[in-house]
Amino acid sequence: MALLVNLDLVRILVTGASGQLGPYLLRVLQGEPHIVTAWSGNWEGELFGTPMRPVDLASPGAVEAAFTRADPEVVIHAGAVASPGVVDQDPDRAWTVNVQGTDRLAGLCESRRCRLLYVSTDMVFDGEDTAYDEDSPPRPVSAYGRSKLAAEPLVLGRSDLEALVVRVSLMFGPSLNGRPRFFDQLVEAIRQGRPFTLFNDEWRSPLSLDAAARALAALASQAPGSWRELGSRGVLHIGGAERMTRHEMGVRIAGHLGCDSPRLAAGSRLAHESPEPRPRDLSLDSRAWRTAFPDLPWPSLEEALGEMLPPGR
Ligand SMILES: NC(=O)c1ccc[n+]([C@@H]2O[C@H](COP(=O)([O-])OP(=O)(O)OC[C@H]3O[C@@H](n4cnc5c(N)ncnc54)[C@H](OP(=O)(O)O)[C@@H]3O)[C@@H](O)[C@H]2O)c1
Repeated sequence: MALLVNLDLVRILVTGASGQLGPYLLRVLQGEPHIVTAWSGNWEGELFGTPMRPVDLASPGAVEAAFTRADPEVVIHAGAVASPGVVDQDPDRAWTVNVQGTDRLAGLCESRRCRLLYVSTDMVFDGEDTAYDEDSPPRPVSAYGRSKLAAEPLVLGRSDLEALVVRVSLMFGPSLNGRPRFFDQLVEAIRQGRPFTLFNDEWRSPLSLDAAARALAALASQAPGSWRELGSRGVLHIGGAERMTRHEMGVRIAGHLGCDSPRLAAGSRLAHESPEPRPRDLSLDSRAWRTAFPDLPWPSLEEALGEMLPPGR
């Protein structure tokens, strides 16, 4: 079943627009005939022609006032305390933002007849299996994963809300907000020939930020009612086309950059000190998404890198 994209103008609100994923969403939406409102947490400025409005998801009054002003028809909810390490530093704050903030947004969407796309994560799984599909039982092992999972029923349990939970794999690509992240640091280390350790016992199905943004933008552009046909019980998995370890990913990035002898050490997640276990395999089964959207990009790692990083050092 291939779904058609509805080309009507839609008022779209993007939360988390200043993060890793948000700017990619704004870049894709810039080329579409929609009216886009972008919320950050604190970040101020403009990205891809869209002014950023700081709105703290933990502040009920601020969220309601800004929601009323935006008057969206669809929300792409990517805003979150999205780094497991940051969540561990202040789990209560993360719960307020990720769970209560999402619940509040869902309530507003329900009362204003607005549809909600909630961006969830592969980290709702424990990593002891592989190729998780939408019916696989979630069992998060991190505070971050627990907070993202806890918000899912708060979105899906509302009888008058049209919602879709999109669980996304580990995403990669250069930062577009001027704040370098893990991928940027890895690429810089490879280019400079510096040592870098990557786990060779942690499997993911990495998805480029651009492919993720295109998928979410396509979903936001669907006609009302069409999300019901997707995934299972309101949940859709969107992962990359390949399963690989983080170390393999680094080696292939180095190959793409033409670096013959990258100083990439293979490490073990078991030797890594962290307050909670690191999931072994979080690869997602994306067949439901691919069946519905066979024409959307689903690049191999090298194809995605070819779009984002010019080869050579
Ligand atoms: N990155 C991944 O590999 C990955 C994988 C699966 C799922 N996800 C999910 O995808 C979404 C986007 O992830 P990301 O990597 O783009 O995250 P990110 O880079 O950490 O960005 C988080 C975004 O949320 C905003 N935010 C944080 N606290 C907020 C608050 N209290 N109120 C309002 N906004 C707040 C941030 O605003 P400021 O910039 O102003 O702080 C930023 O725009 C998240 O929901 C995450 O759980 C990410």
